[in-house]
Amino acid sequence: MSDNHPIQTILAIESSCDETACAIVRGGREVLANIVASQADLHAQFGGVVPEVAARSHIEVMIPVVEEALAAAGLGWSDIDAIAVTRGPGLVGSLLIGALTAEVLAVEKQRPLIGVNHILAHAFASFLTEDSQPAFPMLALVASGGDSRIMLFQSDLSFETLGATRDDAAGEAFDKVAKLLGLPYPGGPNISRVAESGNDTAFTLPKAKLGPDSLDFSFSGLKTAVLRQVQELIGDKPGLANLKKSYDLPANVVADIAASFERTVAETLSEKLLRAYNTHSPASVVIGGGVAANRRLRAAVLAAIPEAHIIPAQYCGDNAAMIGALAYQMAAQGLAVEPAAILDSTAVEVDSSLEVM
Ligand code: KG4
Repeated sequence: MSDNHPIQTILAIESSCDETACAIVRGGREVLANIVASQADLHAQFGGVVPEVAARSHIEVMIPVVEEALAAAGLGWSDIDAIAVTRGPGLVGSLLIGALTAEVLAVEKQRPLIGVNHILAHAFASFLTEDSQPAFPMLALVASGGDSRIMLFQSDLSFETLGATRDDAAGEAFDKVAKLLGLPYPGGPNISRVAESGNDTAFTLPKAKLGPDSLDFSFSGLKTAVLRQVQELIGDKPGLANLKKSYDLPANVVADIAASFERTVAETLSEKLLRAYNTHSPASVVIGGGVAANRRLRAAVLAAIPEAHIIPAQYCGDNAAMIGALAYQMAAQGLAVEPAAILDSTAVEVDSSLEVM
C-alpha cells in the first residue's frame, strides 16, 4: 500500500438500509468525520425496516448529512480527492438514493467515484482505529442484520468466503427473537440490555453444526427453538404460525431466555471463527457488522483468539467510515475507480442482491 497514492481523503456515503451516513476518511484509517442519521425510531413503530419509508427518509436527510460531515471535518470540496458509495447489497430504493447522490456529486465536483461492497466494508472497519493495521491474509467474521459470513482476504483484496449463513443472518435472528420476547426493534441491543440481568445457562438452545468441517451458519433452527421454549413455558399450543407473535412473559424469564440465546449465538460464531483460524493460520483476525457490537460475542472471540482486532462499537453498525476505509484500499490497488464525468451505465451500479460480489 502506497501512502503517496493520489487518493488520500475520501468522502464516503452509505445508505443501504435505514442509516443515512457520510464520513470523511484520510489515508484509509483516520476518521475526520463520521455522521450517521439513524431511522431506527421511524421504523420501530412497524417492528422492522419499511423499504419505502427508508428511501423517502434518505432523500430528506442525505444532503444535510453530507454537509454536516464536511463541516465536522472542517473541510471543503477542494480537500476531497474521491467520493465513495455503497453499491450493495441492500434495499434497492435506499441504495439508489446514495448512489445517485454520489454520482451527481462526482460529476459536479469532478472527482473519481468508487463503488464499494457493504459486506466487505464491514470487514475493513478495523483499519479505522488500530495503531497496527490488520495484516494479510486477514480472516474476517461479518455478522450483520442481512448477512453472516467468514471470509479470508489476501493483500490484493481478493477473498474467499469460507462459510456463510444458510438461512437467517445472526442479526436477523436477534431481531426475530426480540420480537417474540416482546422487545422493541432493533432486537440486538434490546436483547443485550435485558440479558445483562439474565442467567445465560438457564436454557439449553441448539447450535447448528452443519457437518464436522463446515464453517456455514444456520440460525433459523435456533429462532424456532426459542419459540418452542416460550410456547412450552406458557402452555401455548406449539406451531410455527406463531413465529411473528409477541409473547408476554415475566421479566426474569425474558432475561434468562435473552442471555441463553445471546450466549448460544456468541459461541456459535466464535467457535466457527476459531475453526477457520486454526485451519487457515491468517496473519490477522477482524470482526465487523452490527452483531460485532455484542458484548458476549466480543468476549467469546477474544477468549478464543486473543490477538483478534475488536473494533469500537461505533464502527460495527452501518456507517460510512468503513466504506471510506475499503474505498482507500481499492483505490490504492487501482480497483473500480471510475472517472467522474459519467452518468451512464459505467457509473456505480447498485446491487440489491445478497451476493457479496
Ligand atoms: O451491520 P448492521 O448495522 O446492518 C446491516 O448491515 O445489516 O447490523 C444490524 C443488525 C441488527 O440485526 C441488530 O439487531 C444487530 O445488528 N445488532 C446487535 C447489536 N447491535 C446491533 N446484535 C447483537 N448485539 C448487539 N449489541
